[in-house]
Amino acid sequence: MTTFWSTYISVLTIGSLIGLTWLLLATRKGESKNTTDQTMGHSFDGIEEYDNPLPKWWFWLFVGTLVFSVGYLILYPGLGNWKGILPGYENGWTGANEWQKEMDKADAKFGPIFAKYAAMPVEEVAKDPQALKMGGRLFASNCSVCHGSDAKGAFGFPNLTDKDWRWGGEAETIKASIMNGRHGVMPAWAEVIGQQGVADVAAFVLTSMDGRSLPEGAKADPAKGKEIFAGNCVACHGPEGKGTPAMGAPDLTHPQAFIYGSSFAQLQQTIRYGRQGQMPAQAEIQGNDKVHLLAAYVYSLSQDSAAETVTAK
Ligand code: HEC
Ligand code: HEC
Repeated sequence: MTTFWSTYISVLTIGSLIGLTWLLLATRKGESKNTTDQTMGHSFDGIEEYDNPLPKWWFWLFVGTLVFSVGYLILYPGLGNWKGILPGYENGWTGANEWQKEMDKADAKFGPIFAKYAAMPVEEVAKDPQALKMGGRLFASNCSVCHGSDAKGAFGFPNLTDKDWRWGGEAETIKASIMNGRHGVMPAWAEVIGQQGVADVAAFVLTSMDGRSLPEGAKADPAKGKEIFAGNCVACHGPEGKGTPAMGAPDLTHPQAFIYGSSFAQLQQTIRYGRQGQMPAQAEIQGNDKVHLLAAYVYSLSQDSAAETVTAK
């Protein structure tokens, strides 16, 4: 803060305190010392005011707040650049310092526990109820916004409790997904294969890969779609459409795991405009040890094991 603003704030604050003290004492002078039943002569809604002095307790309450504010402004940083002289705080009390202190305390307390688990393989950690509880809490505060508090996902966000994985479900792969994040890139096809091509290939995915039938009156030819698929889609989704985890290209034979919807209209939307799913990297935010616990928790969810009973709180 510049000296000008620091002075400005200090003058305003101290000035107000002095002004209020003066007001309090000045109005007290003219008051009669005795209780009367004379009113001030004005009334509102049938309420009238007696011409009586301020009750003592009220007056002292005012004085109390003034004394408190002076004490507070000396101890804490309230006046511009003044840092306060609260004992135990060489650089003055600040909210940020307090937060850092709490974090350091938590790290000192939980760091060794995190480190213990970080030294074990993810699969082993996933069998430890205490670790799962900690992982579940980390999940609830960092991941549930996108993946849901039950980790079952939502539109655009994958379900982490099933056996369908876009990038792979091995313990270490899950950890890599969380550590480094993931970016799924499904190109847009409207310009390449045309609107009819989009409808045809969507019809092919719907009928041949997912074994469902086209909605009534759909103008699309799955046979043509099959050719388009062979020419444009197999590079990523594989010749049988079973997906390529290395690219995050999902298995198109499992419509129940589609994150962008599996209706004929939604398939066309996805193919026409493409999709760009982003999983934010956690390495910098959580650090290796916490990600290790998170990976164990996520891994456990699809193992039909203890995880069912350890719900994220
Ligand atoms: C360059 C690789 C690549 C090509 C080529 C490609 N895809 Fe994809 N596709 C992906 C990726 C990666 C995703 C996942 C996108 C995401 O997670 O946001 C995806 C997602 C999809 C989805 C959505 C699945 C869901 O979860 O909702 C459909 C449907 C799909 N692709 C169909 C096709 C069709 C049809 C073609 C050919 C016209 C095609 N893809 C070509 C990489 C590709
Ligand atoms: C901002 C939203 C968001 C947050 C927060 C988020 N994720 Fe994700 N996550 C995604 C999206 C979107 C994908 C799918 C990426 C793609 O399209 O391939 C994903 C994918 C994943 C995958 C890979 C799934 C697969 O099928 O291979 C894992 C594992 C995962 N997330 C775990 C986590 C964990 C653990 C956290 C908490 C630390 C977390 N995510 C936080 C959005 C999020």
